[in-house]
Amino acid sequence: MTLSKPLAALIIPTVLGACAVLMPAPNESLTRGATIYAAECAACHGAAGDGAGAASLGLGMTPPDLTGLRARNDGVFPRAFVQRFVLGQLEKEDPDAAMPTFGTVGLEHAQSEGEVTASDMVALLDYMETLQR
Ligand code: HEC
Repeated sequence: MTLSKPLAALIIPTVLGACAVLMPAPNESLTRGATIYAAECAACHGAAGDGAGAASLGLGMTPPDLTGLRARNDGVFPRAFVQRFVLGQLEKEDPDAAMPTFGTVGLEHAQSEGEVTASDMVALLDYMETLQR
């Protein structure tokens, strides 16, 4: 089916307008992602994601450098892998590794109540993508 031009002129801005309302502005999402990262990940993976957070000293292993995820994945940031890894849906290389599993509101650890909201996960992934070298 092809839309008549006047109809398309009516529908397209309406759809785009609805998207703009539903999706947070990119900057908002990045700010949210940075907050989540700082609260949940930086202690082990480092403030800049390079794997040298204060808590990593007692882990017995250096957490992987998260700034190299894209470089290690042929130049494509592996969003699906990161999401599934963080949610504990992938097997860890070392089952005893200290990487916590996050629940499925607010990326709280699985041990505590709550679920990870889709928008929080998108915000975290968007932010992590900006950390790639
Ligand atoms: C208590 C320390 C700790 C915290 C907190 C932590 N991680 Fe990890 N993370 C690790 C360790 C240790 C590994 C290595 C696990 C393994 O290889 O089995 C790891 C592995 C990973 C990996 C796999 C990287 C790769 O190249 O294989 C990703 C992605 C990751 N963490 C992301 C995150 C994110 C995102 C957060 C915050 C939501 C987070 N981690 C919080 C310790 C931590």
